[in-house]
Amino acid sequence: MSEDLKREAAAMALTEVREGMRLGLGTGSTARHFVDLLGQRVAQGLNVICVPTSEATAAQAISLGITLSDLETLDRLDLTVDGADEIDADLNLIKGGGGALLREKIVAAASDVMIVIADDSKCVDPLGKFPLPIEVNRFGLGATTRAVVEVIKAHGAEGGLKLRGEDKGEAFVTDGGHFILDAFFGRISQPEALSNDLLNIPGVVQHGLFLNMCSKAYVATPNGVKTLQRK
Ligand code: 5RP
Repeated sequence: MSEDLKREAAAMALTEVREGMRLGLGTGSTARHFVDLLGQRVAQGLNVICVPTSEATAAQAISLGITLSDLETLDRLDLTVDGADEIDADLNLIKGGGGALLREKIVAAASDVMIVIADDSKCVDPLGKFPLPIEVNRFGLGATTRAVVEVIKAHGAEGGLKLRGEDKGEAFVTDGGHFILDAFFGRISQPEALSNDLLNIPGVVQHGLFLNMCSKAYVATPNGVKTLQRK
């Protein structure tokens, strides 16, 4: 059922794609449906050029015959379509559950429009039930972790911090070669201030708060796909 909803949201985003567009391709199970549907249109003759946000998405796109490029060759993208872990009423997001947040943010920032696709389980108020992914450099991990703990405490985190993958015996490594710390907030009441405080820590590469970046969301519910626009 949930896969059907994700695909319905992806199909709505596909209606925004036009011939000749430069597209950012997101990462995750919902974005995967979009790439799959896009591949079908490409097989029918649609011309688009795409920048993937992860090695996994790149591999999927290549397997479908989608032309890929990068942000050295293309200065701007027309549209990025991506999934999200949480979406609030202002279309601020938590992303990075799949570990691709850094490339996702770089690609979204280089895009004129970012559209998020999701099922309605992702809509929350406020953000923060989903652990916030924080991508950190491997060098100085202990010092960075201590600094991040101070920041999340100051922002009222209800839970602690976990190095992703640690419980499975091997830390998760991102496509960029970094680690991810997942921060358990419960609720994030001041996302802008939290963003600034995290980015002020030298070992923090990026975090999964996507603030004022998404302009539209297609959210699939059992009663159809809702369109949410940023006010
Ligand atoms: C990956 C992401 C994904 O978009 C996010 O985790 C949602 O994934 P899914 O569509 O599988 O629920 O941010 O870094």
